[in-house]
Amino acid sequence: MKLLITGGAGFIGSNFVHLVFNDHPGVSVVNVDSLTYAGNLENLKSVVNKPDYRFIKADIADRSAMEELFSAEQFDAVINFAAESHVDRSITEPEIFLKSNVFGTQVLLDMALKYKVDRFVQISTDEVYGSLPATGYFVETTPLAPNSPYSASKASADLLVRAYIHTFGLNAVITRCSNNYGPYQFPEKLIPLMITNALEAKQLPVYGDGMNVRDWLHVEDHCKAIWLVMEKGRTGEVYNIGGSNEWHNLDLVKELLTILNQPESLITYVKDRPGHDRRYAIDASKIRNELGWELKYDFPAGLRHTVQWYLDHRTWWERVKSGAYQEYYKKQYNL
Ligand code: NAD
Ligand code: TYD
Repeated sequence: MKLLITGGAGFIGSNFVHLVFNDHPGVSVVNVDSLTYAGNLENLKSVVNKPDYRFIKADIADRSAMEELFSAEQFDAVINFAAESHVDRSITEPEIFLKSNVFGTQVLLDMALKYKVDRFVQISTDEVYGSLPATGYFVETTPLAPNSPYSASKASADLLVRAYIHTFGLNAVITRCSNNYGPYQFPEKLIPLMITNALEAKQLPVYGDGMNVRDWLHVEDHCKAIWLVMEKGRTGEVYNIGGSNEWHNLDLVKELLTILNQPESLITYVKDRPGHDRRYAIDASKIRNELGWELKYDFPAGLRHTVQWYLDHRTWWERVKSGAYQEYYKKQYNL
C-alpha cells in the first residue's frame, strides 16, 4: 500500500508516520510538507533512511506541484493533515488559513479524483462544531458553527470533502478530533507551551479566567483512530475522536506545575483570546461502536510521559522556540 501523507513534518502527521512504520510494515509513505514554521524534519530523523519513505517539500495548494506528484505516483490513499493549525495565528493572519486549509484541500480532492485514489481521509477538528455550554457533547450530526478563522477554514474544507463525495463519488471520510497532546507538539499550543515555559522559569500565560474546557487526547490514540477510519470507516461518514477527558485550562496548568515541581506563582492571567470557545467535549461512541476503537493512554500517565519527552528533548524545543518564534511570542503575549 502506498500512502500520501500531507503535513507529515508537523505534530500529528509525524506521529502518524512513526505509527505506520512501527505498526504496519510493508506500507510505503510519501510525505508532502511545505515546512512552515510548524514543520520540522527533525521529527522524522529515525525514518528518513527507510526505503519505504520519501519526503517532498511542496505546498498542497500548489496545483502544478501536486499534479507532478500525483501523475508520477499511484497512491492508494491520501491522508490530509497539512494545515495551518493554531487559532491565535488565524486571528492575526487569517488569509494563509484559507490558502492552505481550504484551497490546499480542494487541490488534493481534485488530484484524488483525477488520479483515482481509492481513499481520501480528511483530518478535521471538533472546533468546527463551535462552542458548548457546561453540558452536552459534540456528535457527528451537531451542526457546524465555527467561531475562529481557523475553525471556519477547517469547516469549509469539510464541506468541500462532503461535496466531492456527493457530486463526484469520491471515496472519502472525515475525522474530527479533540485537542491532542504528546511528543513533537509545537510549543505554541497549551500543553507544550506551559511545560517549556515552566522549564525555563518563564510566566505561564493563561487566557481569561482559565475556566475554558478542552477534551485532551494522546496523539498516539488519535493516530490509531485515523488508521482504523482509513481502513474501515464507511465512505462519506464523519467520525468524532475524543479522549472523554475534560479539563479546565487552569486545572491542567496547575497539574503540569505539580508534575514539574514548579510554583503556581508562574501562572499569569493574560487578556482573553477574542472569540474564545468556552468548552469542547466529544462523544466518540460512533468510532468505538462501529470500528472498535479504544483509548490506550490514561491521562495522568500520558501527561507524565509527555512531560518526560520534553525533559528528554530540550534541544528539540529550544531550537523550535528560537528565531522567528521569539518574534511571534513577543507580539502575541507582550511578555
Ligand atoms: P501542525 O501545525 O503541527 O502541523 C501542520 C503541518 O502541515 C506542518 O508540518 C506544516 O509545515 C504543514 N503545512 C501547513 N500548510 C501546508 C501546506 N499548504 N502545504 C503542505 N504542508 C503544509 O498541526 P497538527 O497539530 O499536527 O495538526 C494536523 C492536522 O490535525 C491539522 O489538519 C489540524 O487541523 C488537525 N487537528 C489538530 C488537532 C490538535 O490538537 N493539534 C486537533 C484536531 C485536529
Ligand atoms: P490551544 O492549545 O491553542 O488549542 P485550541 O485553542 O485549538 O483548543 O489552546 C487550548 C486552550 O488553552 C484554549 O482554551 C486556549 C488556552 N490557552 C491559554 O490559556 N494560554 C495560551 O497561551 C494558549 C496557547 C492557550
